[in-house]
Amino acid sequence: MSIHIVADKDQVADTVLLPGDPLRARHIAQTYFTDVVQYNEIRGMYGYTGYWNGNRVSVQGTGMGMPSFSIYAQELIDTFGAKRLVRIGTCGTMSPSLNLKDILIAQGADSDGGMNPSRFGSYQFAPTASFNLLERAYQKAKSLGLSYAVGNVFTSDQFYDIHGEQKKKIAQSLGTMAVDMETSELYTLAHMKGIEALTLLTVSDSLLSGEQIPSIDRQNTFNAMVELALHTLFK
Ligand code: HPA
Repeated sequence: MSIHIVADKDQVADTVLLPGDPLRARHIAQTYFTDVVQYNEIRGMYGYTGYWNGNRVSVQGTGMGMPSFSIYAQELIDTFGAKRLVRIGTCGTMSPSLNLKDILIAQGADSDGGMNPSRFGSYQFAPTASFNLLERAYQKAKSLGLSYAVGNVFTSDQFYDIHGEQKKKIAQSLGTMAVDMETSELYTLAHMKGIEALTLLTVSDSLLSGEQIPSIDRQNTFNAMVELALHTLFK
C-alpha cells in the first residue's frame, strides 16, 4: 500500500486509466469492466480493477491539477508497478480546428506549472506522449471514425488565471490546441520512470466561444474516449 492508495500491490493492474473525477472512475468500472474489485476509497479517490475483453485493467481517480495527479501517478508506478498510464480527461479548446466533443490525442504538453522548473532548474524538458500509444490511438481513432485531432496541450496550473488571455495568445501562436491541468506531469513522470503514457481529452468547453457541452453530451463523448483508450491499450 501507499499513503494515498490503500490496497495490496497485486490489486492494481499494470495498465491504469486515469480520469480526474473519481465518480468517472466508478462509472468506467461499472460500465466497461467485469469482475470488478474496488481497491481504494481513501479521500473518496476511488480505484477499481477489473477486466475488459479479458484484459486486466485498473481505473484510478486523480483529482485536478498536477500536484494531485502526481501523487496518484507516482504511487501507482512506484508502489504498485504500473507500466502504462492513460489519462482520460477533458480540455478547453483554443483552436478553430478542434471542436466541442472532439477528442484530442495529446502529443506534447506545454506548461506554466511549477513542478518541472523545481525539478530541472533551467533545463526545459519537453514532455511528450509515448509514441507507441500515440500511434495506436491515432490509428484507432481513424478506424473508429471518431472526430479527433493530434496536437499539443497547454497544461495550466490555474483554472482561474488573471493572465489567461495572454497565455492563450502565446499558446495559439505556437499551434497548441487546448488546455488541461495534468498532462505535462504525466508525460514527465513517464519519461523519468521509464513507463508508457498517453493523454486523451474530450473537448468540454471552448476558450474561443465560451460554449460548454451539455452534461448529457458530456457522458456520451466521455464514453467514446474511454472506448478509444481501451481499444488503444488492448489490441
Ligand atoms: N481549463 C483548464 N482545464 C480544463 C479546461 C479549461 O478550460 N476545460 C477542461 N479542462
